[in-house]
Parts: sequence; C-alpha cells; structure tokens
Amino acid sequence: MRITVLHGQMHRGSTYNITRLFLDRLSDENTEINEFFMPRDAPPFCIGCYNCFTKSESQCPHADTVQPVAKAIEEADLLILESPCYVLGMTGQLKTFLDHMGYRWMAHRPHPKMFGKVGLVISTAAGVGAKKVTKVLRSHLFHWGVPQIYRYGKNVGAASWETVKPEMKAEIEKEVNRIATRIMKEVGRAKPRVKTKALFEVMRMSQKANDWNPTDKEYWLKNGWLDGNKPW
Ligand SMILES: Cc1cc2nc3c(=O)[nH]c(=O)nc-3n(C[C@H](O)[C@H](O)[C@H](O)COP(=O)(O)O)c2cc1C
Repeated sequence: MRITVLHGQMHRGSTYNITRLFLDRLSDENTEINEFFMPRDAPPFCIGCYNCFTKSESQCPHADTVQPVAKAIEEADLLILESPCYVLGMTGQLKTFLDHMGYRWMAHRPHPKMFGKVGLVISTAAGVGAKKVTKVLRSHLFHWGVPQIYRYGKNVGAASWETVKPEMKAEIEKEVNRIATRIMKEVGRAKPRVKTKALFEVMRMSQKANDWNPTDKEYWLKNGWLDGNKPW
C-alpha cells in the first residue's frame, strides 16, 4: 500500500502525533509512506494567473514545487490530509498548497485515479474547531473525486501533545485503532457512491456545455467522459 501524507505544519504536536498513531496502525513492511510538510514542501501563494485552469498545470509558475506532491497524491492508495485548527480553519500553509490543486477539482480536470482511493483527514483543536477543519479537508478530497473519506477531529484540551491528559491519549488511541481497522478493509476496494456519482454527472453536463475553457473540455473528451465512459 502507498500512503501520501500532507502535514499542515512542520512541528510534531498533537496533530502530528495522532497522524503517527494512524500511520503505525496502517503500515507494515510493504507500505510506502510519502510525507510532505507545509510550508517546507508548499509553493508560494497562488498568484491567481489561471494558467493551471486555462493552459496546463505545467504552466503554473509554482509547478516545480506543486507537481512532485501532485504526483505522490496520484500514486497513493490512501491519502491523508492533516492540520491543527488555527482560528477555526486549517493552517494557512496547507491551504496555500490546496489552492494549487484547484485544477484537479471535479469541475475542472479530476485525475481518474482519485475515484478509487481512500482518504483520511485529521485535525486537533484545543477546545473548538477540529471537526470544522476535518469537514473542510474532507470537502477537498471529495471534490478531487475520492469516494471514501474518514474524518478524525479531536478537541484535545491542550496546546501541546505533552500536555494532553493521559486519559485523553488513551481515548485517542482507541478511536484511532477503530478507524484504522475500517480503513484497512476499504483500501483497494473503494468505489464511488451516490454523492460522488451525482457530482460527476453534474460536472459532465457542465463540460458538455463548456464553451469557456477548451483545456478542461478537451480533457473530458480525451477521457471519453462526455461519451458516457466513467473514471471508475
Ligand atoms: C494560531 C493558532 C490558532 C488557534 N486557533 C484555535 C481555535 O480556533 N480553536 C481551538 O480550539 N484551538 C485553537 N488553537 C489551538 C490548537 O488548535 C490546538 O492546541 C491544537 O491541538 C494544536 O495542534 P498541534 O499540537 O498539532 O499544533 C490555535 C492555536 C494556534 C497556534
């Protein structure tokens, strides 16, 4: 199994440590893990040039930084996005990377491989916001086409992993084990359900009528998606 992880921060706090717990449960000697840390592996802010949408992702001025991460995303069986909650949202550095993946949203040029992957999104907050962050992270994976997405958002009541209470850590470990077991059963078997299929259909209709972005339209035509073929 291949796992690609996008860490929304560089430090090894609660979110990182919980992600590590998941990775320990989900991997064995045959697992390849690709980890990217934001902002170390993040591009500069998107400059809004629209090159990725209207020309090609290779024409993004930050393509050299974005494309190695995008490749690892394409090749993974399991995708993990994680971020601590900062003022009720994900970290700015993770958002900066995700902005550069707009061209891969289903409304534009979703990668066919996305439709068979499993996703996991993780966040921690001190008191309020972890679930809000996982909801947004999940929506990114959903719009990329990922059909099966697990969420783990935990308000840990602490500013650092060291100060998370032992009872809380024990609870986290149990919850991680439970979700990891479900993920293991799903990897390699995930199939789009009604919501993904419905969104794909809406986007297919939109691309049929598309007279505003030839790059997107050509992509859908080339994949045969406008003739009724499906990426799953
Ligand atoms: C800039 C900043 C903003 C934060 N905003 C929130 C917040 O909106 N809600 C909350 O409950 N905790 C907030 N926190 C606390 C962290 O989300 C919380 O301690 C989290 O577990 C830290 O994860 P980490 O150890 O992986 O960095 C914030 C912390 C920072 C540094």
